[in-house]
Amino acid sequence: MRIGLFCSGGDAPGMNACCRAVVRAAVGRGFEVIGINRGYQGLINADFFVDRAGNKSMQMRSVSDWAMQGGAFLRSSRSDEFRTSKGRSLAVRNLQKHEIDALIPIGGDGTFAGAVELAKQWDGQIVGCPGTIDNDLHGTDYTIGFSTAVQTAVEAVDKIRDTAESHERMFLIEVMGRHSGYIAVHTALASGAEVIAIPETVTDIEEIIEYLNTLRSRKKTSIMMVVAEGDELGNAFEIDQRLQAAGNPYKTRVVVLGHIQRGGRPTPEDRIRSTQMGSAAVTALAAGKTGIMIGTDGEEIVETPFKKAISIKRQIPVQLVRLMEEMAK
Ligand code: F6P
Repeated sequence: MRIGLFCSGGDAPGMNACCRAVVRAAVGRGFEVIGINRGYQGLINADFFVDRAGNKSMQMRSVSDWAMQGGAFLRSSRSDEFRTSKGRSLAVRNLQKHEIDALIPIGGDGTFAGAVELAKQWDGQIVGCPGTIDNDLHGTDYTIGFSTAVQTAVEAVDKIRDTAESHERMFLIEVMGRHSGYIAVHTALASGAEVIAIPETVTDIEEIIEYLNTLRSRKKTSIMMVVAEGDELGNAFEIDQRLQAAGNPYKTRVVVLGHIQRGGRPTPEDRIRSTQMGSAAVTALAAGKTGIMIGTDGEEIVETPFKKAISIKRQIPVQLVRLMEEMAK
């Protein structure tokens, strides 16, 4: 079997570990792996990976040391061209020309939506691995990159707390999560933040002001508010303005953590889960499966049809939000 492997959408720490696992598991079974650069766009452009030794198909040694490296060595992209039927036809032509039997895309909901469309025009097998820091996919309790992103965000909030204490300020810290508050919830709970704003719950400015006044009267001098970028009231700057207009008793600063959350060496959890999932994707292909996303449920591997993974909204752990609030005194 000849397997095409690529990363797509926003990169995530652990994508390289997942690629390594795919290559090691596939080559170990006697399959061939072709690395495709730059996601779906690379499929359209027949942009294939060549390793340092000049190998066009990926070897065991092509992925040496990939487990511990951040970024995506196969590069990643969001392809507008692939959203068109013409773009997908070009991709199918390349898949046929290069005799690729199966694909393993590593990415998020957009990547799997692309896989569903591709399957309408191509009859090869497709088994995906969930790679997105957002942790927002149904069918897995964990997505590749989430652990590292939270680790990075928590380290940042800890540092910001120091300066917030010195200057007796409130900080609004914006974390990633286009449609999801998952990173925000874990970051807020782990860093002992006092306030959170996420798209899944109503952000009530009056209520927050009342709470801030209570904290002020209890002589609380610094406040950490974690804002998910996708909050329904807007970004951290917009929420800051609303709070100021409503009489925020604290002086504020806004910090947007941005893309540092997407980089860095993956945590052990990201490396381990990526490795599990990459290997499981190869096992699924060998068993003749297609149209599914590999996921985890604790230590167990689970498989979910792409359509289900992208159409059902992953629920936020509201109990963790409540716990954070209970602790924030
Ligand atoms: O989907 C992952 C993610 O990191 C989101 O949290 C964020 O909104 C988005 O990608 C940003 O993507 P980009 O920088 O590629 O535009």
